[in-house]
Amino acid sequence: MSTAILSALTEEQSSLVGRLAHPQRVTHAGRAFWRGELDDRPVVLALSGIGKVAAATTATALIEHFGVARIVFTGVAGGVGDGVNVGDVVVAQDYIQHDMDASPLFPRWELPGYARSRLPCDPALTALLLEAANACVAGASSQFGLKSAPGQRAHQVHHGLVASGDRFVSTATESAQLRAALQGAGHDVLAVEMEGAAVAQVCQDYGLPFAAVRTISDRADDTAHGDFALFVQTVASRYAEHMVLALLQKL
Ligand code: ADE
Repeated sequence: MSTAILSALTEEQSSLVGRLAHPQRVTHAGRAFWRGELDDRPVVLALSGIGKVAAATTATALIEHFGVARIVFTGVAGGVGDGVNVGDVVVAQDYIQHDMDASPLFPRWELPGYARSRLPCDPALTALLLEAANACVAGASSQFGLKSAPGQRAHQVHHGLVASGDRFVSTATESAQLRAALQGAGHDVLAVEMEGAAVAQVCQDYGLPFAAVRTISDRADDTAHGDFALFVQTVASRYAEHMVLALLQKL
């Protein structure tokens, strides 16, 4: 059975599409999906779309229509945890929706009907993704010439809680508020993005293994809009490609 590789951004997907053996483009639910093999492993490549609903539709299509066995999600995120810096990589341990608020009917952040706020990623698949991420970041400069900027520390891999919500967090004030509120309830968030928690929820509903990795593109502050496109092309998409290929070897 196939592994779905879900990308948040076209730049990340295009290098994988270029490597596909026997590529077959299929349109479904108004989206393009690519079937084929990467290093002899059957895969379906898809773009998540932006935001939780778009990502949930894509994940559901991957499961219902393409019958994938697992979903691996790559993308970028804003770093909010201490020491989670641009160029670092975060492998998600679990997800929370930072904009879920059905209070006072349910506790803040609890997913109504799930009796919990946090959804775990699959431990076994995540362990393999973490291995792939560590190997990729450690070998980035020798294997594909990616170096941290002069005077900056080497990129690091983090593992922990990631928050998703339908907002691009682009002020230091908002980022600090979001982090402090979640921390006050015991949720120590490393990074923020806009889709992963939705895919985690769909995978939980269908009982499918899910793992996610995000390269930190910004610090979710006033400079977050920065040179996003350049970062994605030069850093995030190369990490994504190498991590996906390294992970597929382990499956
Ligand atoms: N993805 C990358 N950076 C982000 C940010 N600052 N907020 C939400 N999603 C992001």
